[in-house]
Amino acid sequence: MNKKENLAVEQEQPHAVTSGFAALGLSGALLKAVLQSGLSDPKPIQAQAIPPYLAGRDILGIAQTGSGKTAAFSLPILHKIVALGTKRGPKSARALILAPTRELAVQIEEMIRAVSKGLHVSTALVLGGVSRASQVKKVRLGVDILVATPGRLIDLVREGDISLAETHYLVLDEADRMLDMGFLPDVRRLAKATHPKRQTALFSATMPPEIAALAEGLMKDPVRIEITPQSSTVKEIEQGVVMARKRQKRSVLATMLADESMGQVIVFSRTKHGADAVTRNLERDGFTAAVIHGNKSQNARQKALNGFRDGSVRILVATDIAARGIDVPGISHVVNYDLPDEAESYVHRIGRTGRNGAEGIAITLCDPSETDKLRQVERIIRTRLPVLASHLDKPDPEPRKGEPTGTPREEQANRRNPGGKSRSGHSQPRKPSHTASPQAAKEKPAANRHQPLNAGKGEAAGKPSRKKFRGRRRFGRKPAAQAA
Ligand SMILES: Nc1ncnc2c1ncn2[C@@H]1O[C@H](COP(=O)(O)OP(=O)(O)OP(=O)(O)O)[C@@H](O)[C@H]1O
Ligand SMILES: [Mg+2]
Repeated sequence: MNKKENLAVEQEQPHAVTSGFAALGLSGALLKAVLQSGLSDPKPIQAQAIPPYLAGRDILGIAQTGSGKTAAFSLPILHKIVALGTKRGPKSARALILAPTRELAVQIEEMIRAVSKGLHVSTALVLGGVSRASQVKKVRLGVDILVATPGRLIDLVREGDISLAETHYLVLDEADRMLDMGFLPDVRRLAKATHPKRQTALFSATMPPEIAALAEGLMKDPVRIEITPQSSTVKEIEQGVVMARKRQKRSVLATMLADESMGQVIVFSRTKHGADAVTRNLERDGFTAAVIHGNKSQNARQKALNGFRDGSVRILVATDIAARGIDVPGISHVVNYDLPDEAESYVHRIGRTGRNGAEGIAITLCDPSETDKLRQVERIIRTRLPVLASHLDKPDPEPRKGEPTGTPREEQANRRNPGGKSRSGHSQPRKPSHTASPQAAKEKPAANRHQPLNAGKGEAAGKPSRKKFRGRRRFGRKPAAQAA
């Protein structure tokens, strides 16, 4: 073939030649499937993480919300798995991706299926809240990629339904969350059960230094990729604060939502009871809203999220269970009805908008008792948030009869001590405690599952010990895991 003909062939196959993904080392059927799935040029985190991952290196990848981290770990794993062929051991998983919430695990698995169409790569999901029998059946013959939340996976490994002995690829998505105290024991156990020569990749938009130190312990000589400093917020997201007292927040939110230029909105509440109260109040004020939190059935959780995803739900009220990783491209606004307990959650919450180059608006309603939390957020994002409006010159309205505004405990405390500090301590500023606080978006408290992987079935299903329960009560603070 002469030079001219060669050029003509290249022009007939523009993807194979021009795709940035080819330059990163992806090829053949995978490259074709990736391009067909709609992924265009590689994002910076993909360009920097894929080559070293393909070369066998462990990766610590930090990049902003909505910047394409999922493909940054999924594509090189797919590349390696395609090269391995289809022979799999029974009950085994070649790659394991751990995520902190069920909805995120579902989304990751869907994304992997979308980019690997026609490649004969098998995937499975293992998560709590849904039938375990079908999960066990799915992995019986072995799978290529298992996406899981830690709790259910620990159970299935302990009961011998899944073996991680041949798992050579391990990913912790939302790694700082996965290594926070609530998940750490489970994640360590699972990591220990994988192949000793496994390759590990950790990804998140936030990585507080004390968690980064824990992360080092799971990896071997990792390549650290930091596209922007950790906890940076996306510049396309316009952020601001509205100062409003607790009971003013309801009407402030209703006024905001009445503006029809506000498209799809996610409203974050710190607690499950708070999320229910916000939803009820929105309905009383004439809005239709779906709610997602940890007290809802898995069916209801996924239904609310799917409705939001397909656009049939305009307003989704959520706890931090939906703060991390959830990718719904149309979200125009994030409203923080109250500030999160952990400053990092702010970064993840607002990152549900302004994804993949889109614009977004994030508004935080801040009661004077929350200003310490606000300062903590501003410290980690290294930005002073502008105050867009203040309602503090007006008095807090009287509570409307029979309309709770917060948790039952807060309500009780309010009644006993109107205007005073909550006895539950929730209004107290939180010390930075990435390692001291259990996880918000966790499916059940780690205390339930602190048994070795080879412990008996009865123990697997065990309830938290009374001692631990009393301990929590004594400290007077519900673990965030329950709060979500
Ligand atoms: N190369 C690409 N070309 C086009 N779109 C892309 C590309 N990579 C990722 N995307 C899209 O960008 C969106 C955000 O990606 P993703 O969910 O992986 O972000 P993330 O970095 O994991 O965010 P978060 O920190 O919130 O989890 C997704 O809708 C994804 O399909
Ligand atoms: Mg993600």
